[in-house]
Order: sequence, then structure tokens, then C-alpha cells
Amino acid sequence: MIFSVLALILTTFITLIITKRIAKPINDIMEVAESLSDKRYEVRYTGNAYGEVADLGETINDLATSLEEQNLELVQNDKRLYELINHLVIGVMLIDEHRIIKMVNPAMSVILGEDVSQLVGNSYVEATKSYGLSHMIEMAYQKNEQQNDEIYFYYPKDKIVDANIVPIDGKEPGEQNLIVLLYDITEIRRLEKVRTDFVTNASHELKTPVTALKGFSETLLDGAMEDKEVLKQFLEIMLAESSRLDFLVNDILELSKLEQKQVPLKIEEINLTEAVISTFQLVKQKADEKKMKLNIIEEDNLFITGDSSRLKQILANLINNAVVYTQESGEVEVTIKKENNFAVIKVSDNGIGIPEDEQDRIFERFYRVDKARSRNSGGTGLGLSIVKYLVENLNGFITVESKLGLGTTFIVKLPIQPK
Ligand SMILES: Nc1ncnc2c1ncn2[C@@H]1O[C@H](COP(=O)(O)OP(=O)(O)OP(=O)(O)O)[C@@H](O)[C@H]1O
Ligand SMILES: [Mg+2]
Repeated sequence: MIFSVLALILTTFITLIITKRIAKPINDIMEVAESLSDKRYEVRYTGNAYGEVADLGETINDLATSLEEQNLELVQNDKRLYELINHLVIGVMLIDEHRIIKMVNPAMSVILGEDVSQLVGNSYVEATKSYGLSHMIEMAYQKNEQQNDEIYFYYPKDKIVDANIVPIDGKEPGEQNLIVLLYDITEIRRLEKVRTDFVTNASHELKTPVTALKGFSETLLDGAMEDKEVLKQFLEIMLAESSRLDFLVNDILELSKLEQKQVPLKIEEINLTEAVISTFQLVKQKADEKKMKLNIIEEDNLFITGDSSRLKQILANLINNAVVYTQESGEVEVTIKKENNFAVIKVSDNGIGIPEDEQDRIFERFYRVDKARSRNSGGTGLGLSIVKYLVENLNGFITVESKLGLGTTFIVKLPIQPK
């Protein structure tokens, strides 16, 4: 009897020891393991176990630390990827095999002209309102091959876009996803056109005086030079045409130097009023012939830092235009004033004005509102494009305000460097 009682006490005692030393720690360790499987990687085993159970606790803690580090790395990688995709200027869209949008980045909304982030979960057709793009996407699905093409968007704005559709494997075998990559190349194509237009226009403009020179010299050699009167008249025309050619070639060279930023800038302090008055001298004769008045209104006496010959080139072009494109007895007025940290120079005339839809275009090379009139007055249509380059070289801006038949004002804003 006494033995059985002792045996019971002993068994209870041993059970208690086993529970305290083994079962409880194992239970705690299991709880840690469960937390890890629930992706709570910060949990650790902190109990006091002995022997192999303690080793087990340590191993599970090492596992937790390693999982926590790996998870942190994954989160950071994910964040980096997310930042990268969100800051790309290329539009990115992921579509699954059911044509459903899985992801889009902000650039895609900018390119497509609407907020397509709202369309995640919908068919891609709702986002890409372009037959060309839909066709490329369907081809990529059919052929399981990358597609690349230049496509035109007409809505909501005209755009030229370089599109790449890249098939990628999905999570499941046989699942086919697509990445749509769009890059807006409208500006690149526009600049290319400006360049080719420039070559076409320049050749055309150069050809005109050259043809005249050739024609007149041939006629003279064919016998017209015997007549002194005709000889003089033709030579005068040839002189005028060669000066035109000279101006043109100089302007073209000037523009290409400006474009390549080869123009050395002499930095000096320039008094704007003095620069305007000395520019008036250059056009005075022409203005007197047309009985025109040249006025200057100095609201502030201003100095800017820059290259004075470049500034005079800007003023000369604008004031000369004002005189050329204004009728007899008209007026040209130059106002100088300060606005915040900018010197504002306004060149106004009460001349023929510029139609509203052409006001943006006059800064383009060779653009002339009235081709015949401008050519007769010796114009090449390069003046304002040179002015625009020069103003931008001085970190300034130029704008125009004009009313047809009433007059034009060019406004140049140049930064005044704080002393
Ligand atoms: N003050 C103005 N009033 C009316 N039209 C103007 C005025 N200034 C410029 N324009 C228009 O803008 C066009 C472009 O001017 P721009 O100075 O570039 O060329 P241009 O005067 O024809 O030739 P040039 O290169 O010899 O100056 C002109 O042909 C003219 O039609
Ligand atoms: Mg001009």
C-alpha cells in the first residue's frame, strides 16, 4: 500500500518536472513557430529551458531573426521597386491572361490622359482607347512575342508614343501576362520635324538669292551689259541679293552656334536704359524715313549682368521689327521696369499686329506672317528665333501680346542678379 502511494507521489513529481522542464517550453516554442507562420517575425522564445529544449529555443530564435531579416530585405526591395516604377517617365501597365489590368504606374495615366489607376481590375480596353495599341496587345497574346511600334493617340491630345508589349510568364504554368510599356516621343518627333523643316526652309531661302544672282549675271553676260542703264540696275539688284545672302548665312551660322552653346558670353554690368538708347541709334535712320517716334520710358533704372552685345542684339531685333511692321508716323515705345527679381523690357508698337493663331509660331525659324511683305523688307524670318535663344541663354523669358491692326508688344524678362 505504502509503495503504491510512494509510486503515485513519485510519478506526480516526475510528471511535474517533465511538464515544467519540457512540455511548457516546447509549448512556448511552438507558439513562437506559429507566430512565425503568421508572418509575425518579431516574436522570440524567452523562457528558461534546459538541455536540448534550450537548444531548440535558440534554433527557433535564430530562424526568427533570419526570417525577420529576409522579410525586411523583401519589404525594402518591394519599396524600391514601387518607387522606381512610380517615378518612371515610361508608362507601365500589367495585364493578366483575362485582359484584366493588374497594375499601372502614374506615368501611364499621364500618357493616356486619364487616371487609369481607377481601372485596375477592369479590362485593359477601357484604358487604352487606341485601336493601334489594342491591336498590338492582342498580337502579343496571340503570338506570345514582344511587339514594338510607334502609335498615334488622337484623344484627349495628339500624341506620338513608342509602345512595347512584353509577354511574361504568370505564377501558374501556362498563364500569360503582358507588360505594356509606353513612352511619349511627341517632343522628340517635333524637334526632328523642326530640324528637317529648317534644312528645307534654309535651302529654299538660300536658293532664292542664288537663283537671282545666277539669272542676272547670265543675262548680263548674254549681252545686257552693253546697256549701261540695265547694267547698273542689274548690278544693284545683284548687290542687294548678295547682301541678303550674306545676312542669311550669318543668321544661320549664328543660330547653329547658339544651338551648340558655342557663343562665349562676356559677363559685365549693363545699364538697360543706355543699351536701349544706343540701339535706337541703329534704327534711327529707318524710323526717321517713316516719320516714326522712338520713345523710352524708364520706370526703374536697372542693371543686369550679362553680355552687352547679346543684349543689344535682342533689343535691335525687337526694335527693328517694331519699326518695320508699323505704318508711317507710327510709334515705338520701350519700357523698362523691375518686377520681383526680373528686369522687364517691353517693346511696343502701334503697327500691323500679329494674328492670334500665329503668335506662337513667330519664334520658329523662317516663320513670317506675311511672307511677301517681310521678304520685301529684307526679312529672313530668323530674327525672333535668334532673340528667343539669346533671351533663354540669359535665363530669361520672352512673350508676345498683339492685336491685329492695333499693335504688338514683346515682353522680355531677364533675371537681375542680386548684388
Ligand atoms: N512688331 C511686330 N509687328 C508685327 N509683326 C511682327 C512684329 N515682329 C515680328 N513680326 C512678325 O513675325 C515674323 C518673324 O519675325 P522675325 O524677326 O523672326 O523675322 P523677320 O523680321 O521676317 O526677318 P529677320 O530675320 O530679318 O528679322 C515677321 O515676319 C512678322 O510677320
Ligand atoms: Mg525681324
